[in-house]
Amino acid sequence: MATRTVSQQSSTAKRRALITGGAGFIGSHLAEALLEEGYAVTALDNLTTGCLENVEQLVADDDFELVGGDVTDELLVDELVREHDVVFHLAAAVGVKLILADPIESFRTNVLGTESVLRGAARHDTKVLIASTSEVYGKTVATPQSEDDDVLLGPSCYSRWSYAACKMLDEFLGLAYAREGLPVVCFRLFNTVGPRQTGHYGMVVPRLVDAALHGDPLPVHGDGSQSRCFLHVCDAVQAILRLNRSPRAVGQVFNIGSTESVTIADLARRVIAAVGIAGHEEDLIRFMPYEEAYPGGGFEDIRCRQPDTSKIRSLTRWRPRRTLDDILRDVVAERVPALAPAPVALEPSIEMAV
Ligand SMILES: NC(=O)c1ccc[n+]([C@@H]2O[C@H](COP(=O)([O-])OP(=O)(O)OC[C@H]3O[C@@H](n4cnc5c(N)ncnc54)[C@H](O)[C@@H]3O)[C@@H](O)[C@H]2O)c1
Repeated sequence: MATRTVSQQSSTAKRRALITGGAGFIGSHLAEALLEEGYAVTALDNLTTGCLENVEQLVADDDFELVGGDVTDELLVDELVREHDVVFHLAAAVGVKLILADPIESFRTNVLGTESVLRGAARHDTKVLIASTSEVYGKTVATPQSEDDDVLLGPSCYSRWSYAACKMLDEFLGLAYAREGLPVVCFRLFNTVGPRQTGHYGMVVPRLVDAALHGDPLPVHGDGSQSRCFLHVCDAVQAILRLNRSPRAVGQVFNIGSTESVTIADLARRVIAAVGIAGHEEDLIRFMPYEEAYPGGGFEDIRCRQPDTSKIRSLTRWRPRRTLDDILRDVVAERVPALAPAPVALEPSIEMAV
């Protein structure tokens, strides 16, 4: 599908950003923010998990272009990279369910896609920011997890670990190019949530909210005592933009995540409160054994994920500005606009020191 579909870009004097995976959940929010910053933006996407609805509000903008195509298509990627000043590489096969369902295609996208972007960037000396993941910490038990910590991945007989291994490979590749002089920054996103994320690929917050809104019991895997930290997608985007603006970020890896930890059982209770449904907990939440949630096996859950964000904070002064309750309000309001609260003004952003 290597077609240049929507509008051709008008601006020649503007800085130009290419977002691979730009019609996805995070990519579409990043596109909006970059347009607001004055960039002309191209989104490259094959629409496997992304969709046109995510960017439909942008297609009328002369500074936005959506290109349908695959990130592993080296000729297309080379042509696009040549036309841009910076690449945000977000295209990936994402989500444990998708990885387990199609491990070979996921591997192709998550490794060859990154190589294709970096080779193009090296030919045209273009800056690249690579999206990695907290999954690379694997089963590490110590928290919070810091960028220089040792990692503990599970064995290759469990496909679940291929996502982490591929993303780790992406980081190795990116840092190798950085050592050769290419400006490359890697960032490890912890659980990122908010409007436009779908629950189809196993993402927990939209899955729980959708179940609550449909009056179904909220499915919680295991006993629900595993804990995570959820970051609002708009906070994640601000962190990525600050890394892009910081010359000292080049050649490094950064955690991006919230430090507000919650168990999945408590998350389900907070979703129930956000949606406003009444009833007994045992009727509202269904604790589901892992073998039932992942019948093919090959799944090992992580007990606890919590990032140490001191590295990005000390370089860029970034910190999350929204809480888990803000996130749940926004996710519910997207589905039921009548439940949307009046907008609350956030404090003005703190300028970063680089
Ligand atoms: N959402 C999270 O919590 C989270 C956590 C850690 C890391 N990440 C990383 O952030 C990035 C964006 O994730 P997201 O949550 O927005 O998921 P997403 O699925 O919405 O975004 C991925 C996008 O890439 C596109 N894509 C997939 N394969 C492609 C290919 N071969 N060629 C072109 N486009 C392709 C998809 O259509 C989709 O639009 C990914 O790299 C992911 O690994 C996300």
